[in-house]
Amino acid sequence: MLRTSTALTSLFLVVMLFLSGLDSFKICSYNIPKFNKAKSSNYRVIHTLTRVFSRCDISLLLHVQDPAAVRTLLKSLNRYSDSENYRYLGKFKYESVSSEALGKDPKDLQHYTFIYRTQTVSLIGQHQHQSSNFVRPPFAVHFHSNTTLEPEFVLIPLHSEPTQAVQEMDKLYDVFLEVVKMWNNTNVMFLGDFHAGCAYMTRSDKKDIRLFSNTSFSWLITDRIDTTVTDQTHCPYDRMVVYGTSFLKQIKPFSAKVFNPIKNFKIQSRRLVEVSDHFPLEVELKSSVMSLLQTQSLYFLLLSLHFLLDL
Ligand SMILES: *[C@@H]1O[C@H](CO)[C@@H](O)[C@H](O)[C@H]1NC(C)=O
Ligand SMILES: *[C@@H]1O[C@H](CO)[C@@H](O)[C@H](O)[C@H]1NC(C)=O
Ligand SMILES: *[C@@H]1O[C@H](CO)[C@@H](O)[C@H](O)[C@H]1NC(C)=O
Repeated sequence: MLRTSTALTSLFLVVMLFLSGLDSFKICSYNIPKFNKAKSSNYRVIHTLTRVFSRCDISLLLHVQDPAAVRTLLKSLNRYSDSENYRYLGKFKYESVSSEALGKDPKDLQHYTFIYRTQTVSLIGQHQHQSSNFVRPPFAVHFHSNTTLEPEFVLIPLHSEPTQAVQEMDKLYDVFLEVVKMWNNTNVMFLGDFHAGCAYMTRSDKKDIRLFSNTSFSWLITDRIDTTVTDQTHCPYDRMVVYGTSFLKQIKPFSAKVFNPIKNFKIQSRRLVEVSDHFPLEVELKSSVMSLLQTQSLYFLLLSLHFLLDL
């Protein structure tokens, strides 16, 4: 009998360990300069992007020049079943939503694109901000997920124009007010390449940026983080910012960071630079499914321990 209970306890421990692979919801952001047909016809680029994005529930892609490139990437993602990424119970299907082509330079019009897993995420709204304050005005997307603690949240991307980065970052506050009013939802995250550092934003510029001066906004990627690939630059250009305590509470502590494919995928830096001179960013949200499972597993574990001690 003792042996049975021990076996039971071990079994539950194994199940819990297994389930701990399920525990998070990942949001990623990647600036992929000039993502067009030529770039997406490079097999190595698509392969690396597929490996990066197959780890994420929602990914923001910046600097998409041609929607055809996104279609190529989606095809690859939807085919993907590499065992190292096969930690979830099923294979995921991915879809995308994109803004119109935005910008002033007709040779460099860009789309904001989100790629998301259809099994964990659904799209409930999208809104193109209109104003001359931005070269590429943010394209806000309202998402719903059954696996996050706060089911509905808004992502607002920005690929700022380097020469007016400070002004654009400040104007994000106006986009925030607009979106909150429209969707009555303050679970808002800003993400993207803000050019928030080095020559484009100095320490003294911060007082002119309401997302900094208003302490209700939390900058998850701090000034100390280097989001660029080369050793020559150490700049925190890419950022993630959330509003309010309810969004902050569902973020896993210390999970906001750059993801380094050179270390994690063992690819050469000159190969990574073919994809981008930036690193992708990621952040993990706590999962509602996991908190439920954790409670249940704990209950069974205690039950088994009870048996064990009783006999
Ligand atoms: C979330 O749950 C609702 C209600 O059960 C369901 O209608 C919806 O399809 C689910 N969404 C996703 C993305 O699973
Ligand atoms: C807005 O959201 C709050 C909290 O989520 C809710 O209590 C309120 O009724 C909502 N207002 C409208 C107009 O939907
Ligand atoms: C910060 O922004 C929030 C949301 O708009 C607002 O309610 C609050 O009053 C602001 N705080 C300050 C100090 O301006």
